[in-house]
Amino acid sequence: MKLIIRVFERTENAGQAGAMLIGGQMIRKPDSIFGLATGSTPVTTYKQLIKMTDDKLLDWNRVTTFNLDEYVGLPGDHEQSYKTFMKAKLFDFVNIRPEAIHIPDGMAEDPGAECMAYERKIREAGGIDLQLLGIGRNGHIGFNEPSDVFKTLTHCVDLSDDTIEANARFFSQPSRVPRQAISMGVGTIMKAWQIVLIATGSDKARAVAAMVQGPIDPQCPASILQTHPRVTVLLDRAASVALSR
Ligand code: F6R
Repeated sequence: MKLIIRVFERTENAGQAGAMLIGGQMIRKPDSIFGLATGSTPVTTYKQLIKMTDDKLLDWNRVTTFNLDEYVGLPGDHEQSYKTFMKAKLFDFVNIRPEAIHIPDGMAEDPGAECMAYERKIREAGGIDLQLLGIGRNGHIGFNEPSDVFKTLTHCVDLSDDTIEANARFFSQPSRVPRQAISMGVGTIMKAWQIVLIATGSDKARAVAAMVQGPIDPQCPASILQTHPRVTVLLDRAASVALSR
């Protein structure tokens, strides 16, 4: 199945287009279940969603969300936890019910049991209607790092050096970047009915080309998306430059 790829001249338009797809899904199905991402990429999308909510276009009252991942060892109220990020960038500004928000618990005593419980919650909720993704410079989605196999379900991951280095910008010292995370697996992501992946900036160009035009290879986890029937890839010009026409 061919990925739908859209390239925008203005970087912010890629993120805004993501908000339009999420908003459209919410309008079609007010009790939609969304898979959400953190990181710098979706910030514009979340800003636009807040604007659309302020403009009374969107109502989050019946929406449920599941975040892709969370660092292991950071309490939810830590300033760099993904829970804090989601509150600051989206949840505090829309009328989502607190009990409808799901983020893996990075402080769970038994991370393995937390992974299984998270997977079960997604299944019991009825599965994800639309999964929002960013992509790592190394082709990771969620925290599914390059590997010899596609890890299928929610699991505990050792972060790669590349990811630790990329995320060090958010921490006062590189040594403070957590070494592990709980992440939805590639199989969890692939079960979503629809996927929207956003990538902007030249440092994503190689990963984008490998995802779209490379072989399906767990060394580029995002390449599995080539086999999903409904994926939209939203790029800015810089992220698209390594794609061959
Ligand atoms: C975040 C996530 C990661 C990021 C990726 C890109 O929840 O799952 O896969 O999407 O690392 O991060 P940014 O957007 O900061 O370049």
